[in-house]
Amino acid sequence: MRRKIIAANWKMNLNYNDAIYLSRQIFNNLNSIDTPNIIISPPYIYLSELVELFSKIDNIKLAAQNCSKSKKGAFTGEISSQMLASINVDYVILGHSERRLGFNETNIDIKNKIDLCLENKLKVIFCCGESLELREKGLHFKLIETQIKESLLHLSKNNLQNIIIAYEPIWAIGTGMTATKDQAQEMHKFIRDIIKSEYGQDTSEQVSIIYGGSCKPSNSRELFLQKDIDGGLIGGASLNADDFFDIIKSIKCI
Ligand code: 13P
Repeated sequence: MRRKIIAANWKMNLNYNDAIYLSRQIFNNLNSIDTPNIIISPPYIYLSELVELFSKIDNIKLAAQNCSKSKKGAFTGEISSQMLASINVDYVILGHSERRLGFNETNIDIKNKIDLCLENKLKVIFCCGESLELREKGLHFKLIETQIKESLLHLSKNNLQNIIIAYEPIWAIGTGMTATKDQAQEMHKFIRDIIKSEYGQDTSEQVSIIYGGSCKPSNSRELFLQKDIDGGLIGGASLNADDFFDIIKSIKCI
């Protein structure tokens, strides 16, 4: 059975006090209830403290928002996958469009980062997604296929089990413009079919494919009801505890 996952990507938001306040709200609310798998991705500098806090709740894991493509050495300002593993972080988000576009990350960079993460026993949330321009030209399927082929399909079946795929259409991120349930389902099925043709039906049925892009309490339930949508990667709405809990509740009752 595929795992249902709600992941929060805080991006470069929240100063220390606000991050701890929100984390305590999450801890206090989710401590006593049966939650789906939750992944929280704060800025790097809060990871250690939050790994410690959430270690008391089985279903809540921590993710970094990035890692270096290099193993170690003279790379001022970088954080390696090995360092993240050494503080018991579980996941790393890789391939986010904000990194592809703002920091010129290529599919090959992302592939190399994935390999380093897996070597260090970190799991990966792999993001893919097209621009509005490519969608309007009808090139969105081709783009997603290339992103997946060039960064993921070298992995063994076993290693693929350590990957969550997040479909995040760029035009829906932070814009309030969500993909419709049909647009999202169509792309999720397309992604699952790529996995199926490469690794077989059983493996494709085990990979969680989550949706990101202006996912909020008002649209999360209808998105999560789709056959190939296994949860969400939530940006803005994860910064507000009530909205985040409502999104979690919307997947719990499916
Ligand atoms: P928003 O939910 O703010 O659109 O962000 C989505 C996202 O980029 C999550 O990684």
